Amino acid sequence: MHINKIVATLASLGTVGMLTSAPGVLAQAPIVIKFSHVVAINTPKGKAAERFKELAEKATHGRVKVEVYPNSILYKDKEEMEALQIGAVQILAPSLAKFGPLGVKEFEVFDLPYIFPTVTALHSVTQGAVGQQMFKKLEPKGITGLAYWDNGFKVMSANKILKSAADFKGLKLRIQSSKVLDAQMRTLGANPQMLAFSEVYQALQTGVVDGAENPPSNIYSQKMHEVQKYISVTNHGVIEYAVITNTKFWNSLPADIRGTLEIALKEATAYGNSIAQKENDDAIEAMRQSSKTSIYVLTDAERAALRKTLLPVQKEVAGRIGKELIDSINQTVAQATVAK
Ligand code: LMR
Repeated sequence: MHINKIVATLASLGTVGMLTSAPGVLAQAPIVIKFSHVVAINTPKGKAAERFKELAEKATHGRVKVEVYPNSILYKDKEEMEALQIGAVQILAPSLAKFGPLGVKEFEVFDLPYIFPTVTALHSVTQGAVGQQMFKKLEPKGITGLAYWDNGFKVMSANKILKSAADFKGLKLRIQSSKVLDAQMRTLGANPQMLAFSEVYQALQTGVVDGAENPPSNIYSQKMHEVQKYISVTNHGVIEYAVITNTKFWNSLPADIRGTLEIALKEATAYGNSIAQKENDDAIEAMRQSSKTSIYVLTDAERAALRKTLLPVQKEVAGRIGKELIDSINQTVAQATVAK
């Protein structure tokens, strides 16, 4: 039977995976990796995902095809974790604030306000033993942690300047699905509202919420600054991501492919982390130039006062995320800060 007839028959049988690369030659179809995320491409995570795609496809000589679905176009916050677990998508990079609903609340330790004074301190955790230990918590959920990606320090957006706890009183502020962030906002006297990232712009525009928190790159890339009169540079916490995969899928890969993807991911991680700070600095500058919003940078004294107000959150959530974990992160950070 002629080759075209074979392919037509296979296709009619809905047989996937057999493609012709040349007459008479049946090539194996590429392994498709769907990589879904919720932010714009022009952000640290968006660019790191595109770089992973480029490196993975090149290094595997096309044996792997990475399909990146940015900006919640494939799955939104709530859906993506379930999609990963059922194997409908193969890689995600959710914020560490979004693992509570999965039953892995320990990652909310990264949401503690002012727990990381610098990126170096953050990296002492994400690139050290504590970060690796935390990935073990994902295993019972059928999820493998592959890497940590940076975004940056969060700022606050609202239609008023937010520089002291009193300024937050009574405001409806959007948060990610994290009980630590809930405690943070309540400690400031605000009223936290959990919303998916894809819903934040409209919630700000219509007044469903009064403000939100995010690194500048997320605010700018989603045009949130166009519906918020003030950006208050509090740098009160971080957004960090875990690049995760479906364990069954990952272990089913040919060992050479898996090894090549691990190298590609390592390079994409280094790239993403190397551009994150500049992406956020550029976003602040772009918002400043846009004249759509005003940027207020808190003074050291104002930031210190906010930090003092928020420190008790660590005690309040210790029962949820574990006092030992909080202590180990504080010790790791202290060592990194002294060593610097
Ligand atoms: C948010 O929901 O605000 C962030 O987690 C979005 C992201 O992935 O950076």
